[in-house]
Amino acid sequence: MMDFPAKPPKVLISEADLSDRIHSIAEQINHDYKDSDCLVCIGILKGSVFFLVDLLKLVTVPVSIDFFQTSSYSSGTTPGEVRIRKDVEVSIRDCDVLLIEDIVDTGYTLRTILDLLKFRGARSVKLCALLDKASRRKVDVTIDYRGFAIDDVFVVGYGLDLNQRYRNLPYIGVYENDGLDPGSDPEVG
Ligand code: IMP
Ligand code: MG
Repeated sequence: MMDFPAKPPKVLISEADLSDRIHSIAEQINHDYKDSDCLVCIGILKGSVFFLVDLLKLVTVPVSIDFFQTSSYSSGTTPGEVRIRKDVEVSIRDCDVLLIEDIVDTGYTLRTILDLLKFRGARSVKLCALLDKASRRKVDVTIDYRGFAIDDVFVVGYGLDLNQRYRNLPYIGVYENDGLDPGSDPEVG
């Protein structure tokens, strides 16, 4: 069990700014998918959950919802190796798929999942990511709906965690570690 600093993470993106941006993304999605007869929205557990819920409450086209869970090893022998720990259960063949993710960092997670969904016969696959840390990208990933571009800082809150903590902060905050080591566990969701 690691120690966490007592002071709360500093606000990077406030609740109000998150809400405004999510409203405009939902408007775009409602427009772009108005003629789709099969739209499957897939969140990546656990980080995307707060974003997915707030976004999809504003989406008015019919959707089904499912989840992937992945794990990746940032300091393993195979950089970028992503494992699927939980697969989707709904059929995506000939459906439009909208992947919903908290943050695109190296891009390894999304690259793996986008390729898998195309291989499984999705009609279209688009990506909606709340945060984009583009300076850390290792593989190319197109973000069709992007909430905010951020610098290379470690963020927590609104679904994002540090060793499973802080997910329930209502805003996106910057974690300042005060010299504490956040640890090197395999990173899950
Ligand atoms: P990628 O495969 O490197 O793009 O990793 C994406 C995953 O890493 C995200 O889904 C997050 O779970 C996690 N991640 C990346 N950057 C951060 C961060 O700043 N805070 C919390 N989690 C992060
Ligand atoms: Mg994640």
